[in-house]
Amino acid sequence: MATTTYSPGLEGVVAGISKISDIDIEKSRLIYRGYDVHELAEKGCFEETAYLLLFEKLPTRPELDAFNKTLSAARAVPGFVYEAMSKVPSNAHPMDLLKVGLAVLAPSDPEYSASPTDTEANRRKAVRMTSKIGAIVANGWRISHGEKVVEPDPSLSTAANFLYMLNGKKPEEFAEKAIDTSLVLYAEHGFNCSTFTARCTVSSLSDIYSGVVSAIGALKGNLHGGANEKAMEMLMEIGTPENAEPYIRDALAGKKKIMGFGHREYRLSDSRAGIMGKIGKEAARRSGNEKWAEIADIVEKLMMDEKKLFPNVDFPAAYAYYSLGIPIPLYTPIFAVSRVTGWCANIIEQLQNNRIMRPKSIYEGDPLKPYVPIDQRPID
Ligand SMILES: CC(C)(COP(=O)(O)OP(=O)(O)OC[C@H]1O[C@@H](n2cnc3c(N)ncnc32)[C@H](O)[C@@H]1OP(=O)(O)O)[C@@H](O)C(=O)NCCC(=O)NCCS
Repeated sequence: MATTTYSPGLEGVVAGISKISDIDIEKSRLIYRGYDVHELAEKGCFEETAYLLLFEKLPTRPELDAFNKTLSAARAVPGFVYEAMSKVPSNAHPMDLLKVGLAVLAPSDPEYSASPTDTEANRRKAVRMTSKIGAIVANGWRISHGEKVVEPDPSLSTAANFLYMLNGKKPEEFAEKAIDTSLVLYAEHGFNCSTFTARCTVSSLSDIYSGVVSAIGALKGNLHGGANEKAMEMLMEIGTPENAEPYIRDALAGKKKIMGFGHREYRLSDSRAGIMGKIGKEAARRSGNEKWAEIADIVEKLMMDEKKLFPNVDFPAAYAYYSLGIPIPLYTPIFAVSRVTGWCANIIEQLQNNRIMRPKSIYEGDPLKPYVPIDQRPID
């Protein structure tokens, strides 16, 4: 039998081969299918990134136009999905509401019965999910707050349409660009917890929707996507720039994790945080309240000085979204609106060369012992 090594959290374990994204740890660089995420964020848009991840190349102008048309045409979500979501208790976190929405949507997909390994059908399903997920999040929020569903506007981009459905009015150019950039930055990131979950789920030959719903569950956790919401809650708890240093020192002394800092892969910095930070600062300036960005600066400096820890993308995303007026419980769902593209690209890749995921565990339970019939078991 081959020797097995145990690595908590699978740290350093290679669990697959992928052509989708890569992290250069030395250079703190992230590439999607060979392209630097900085360039994609600065010169491209989310739809172009989604196309790149799903179709394995950057689109030409006619290809992007056609892709945008397909996305726009598929954006509306069937009424029964919203009806099911309206039955969910109103205290549900929007990530749980999103799981419900996508799970209910799945059987209505025109290719629901296609083979789970049909790459082209999976691509079309991925495009439909990418198209509809923003409406499910935005209208899910409206439904849980007793407001009417807003139908998508086919003339708008993914980012603008999301803000339109959420707020009921078209966004300004800056807000659209800010959300669009965050969607580019959040789209893909190797074998992170939710992507690995998605790959694990479909490795049993389950379907792409099941893979995405599982991934949403994994993304929700505070150590992963949930960190952007927790980071904002922490900034609000800190409250003032003067309180930042004592708050963080106290938290570190109590061995608390500071949300939005650190990373399993990166050692020097998170390549995405710089871009998001610039957007966050500009969003704060435009909102007329720069306090959160000021507090964030103090926290960043202290975390570097004390722990040599840098902010990951979730930290600046938190105060960027806040400054744009987005409700905190929607920060992680926005992450999902973007990451659905990376999850689907990974699911498709997994199913093209699949082997069921089945690692081992080290048993530390009791050794074999005789079964005692229920009436003969001593009562303590
Ligand atoms: C991202 C993260 C889960 C990576 O975890 P990991 O690789 O398993 O690293 P560990 O949790 O084992 O941390 C290693 C050490 O750094 C410390 N550390 C890591 N992140 C920290 C943080 N955000 N705040 C304070 N200390 C942190 C740990 O306490 C630990 O210290 P120790 O060795 O003295 O016990 C972790 O950095 C974290 O929990 N960050 C906060 C949540 C977050 O922002 N998640 C989003 C990631 S994109």
